[in-house]
Amino acid sequence: MRKALVIGNWKMNGLQARNDELVRSVASGVADEAFAGVDIGLCPPSVYLQTIGLQLAGTSVALGAQNMSQHASGAYTGEVSAEMLADVGCSLVILGHSERRALFNESDEDVAAKVKAALAAQLTPVVCVGETLQQREAGEAVSVVSEQVLQALSDLDVAMLEQVVVAYEPVWAIGTGLTASPEQAQEIHAALRKVLSGLSTDAADKVRILYGGSVNAANADALFAKPDIDGGLIGGASLKAEDFIAICRAAA
Ligand code: G3P
Repeated sequence: MRKALVIGNWKMNGLQARNDELVRSVASGVADEAFAGVDIGLCPPSVYLQTIGLQLAGTSVALGAQNMSQHASGAYTGEVSAEMLADVGCSLVILGHSERRALFNESDEDVAAKVKAALAAQLTPVVCVGETLQQREAGEAVSVVSEQVLQALSDLDVAMLEQVVVAYEPVWAIGTGLTASPEQAQEIHAALRKVLSGLSTDAADKVRILYGGSVNAANADALFAKPDIDGGLIGGASLKAEDFIAICRAAA
């Protein structure tokens, strides 16, 4: 009932020549009936969005950004608004990634404001949550991610909530090669869906919850087989066309 979704988060990687080749390979690699069951998106660095948006026009691959401002316009040097992202062809935006929370001091309040601004510009917010290793070892994983989801989403009405995507990315699994086991991930995804159902049972059924954290071509199948894992948010493996396409195939 929920269509799978796989998003590549390139983070701060890639220059034009390499991007061009990667986009071309991914778009042609997934242009096949076999991928009809999965929605696919790419989130390059913001400076390349417009160029890559033009390359993706007419393909089945959606364009997304990795971050945006919560403000609509004005004196915010260096920032990019939701409306600007939509204007260059984005339909998705990653919000509250743990790297933004840890390295750029993004708070739950910032994330909540960005979610509203994204929805107002018709962008799908991909809201990231995840616990640190210390929090997991203290038995706090479920409470930490539940609180992050509530802080980001509890102000939304049901129609808005249904448009959101949540990404569970345990901080200890990001870029480390350590993946949450399918069982560990499913446990958190089920807990997140329960939190969402406290806001709206209808929305909880519809919201896609992605897993992110060292997903690769070898472990994607087992993760995506779990009932509450609706796809993936892929970092390192999205920089290699072959691996990313294999992960998309696993979700289809
Ligand atoms: O947003 C994706 C991400 O943080 C996971 O990165 O490199 O572990 O797949 P990676």
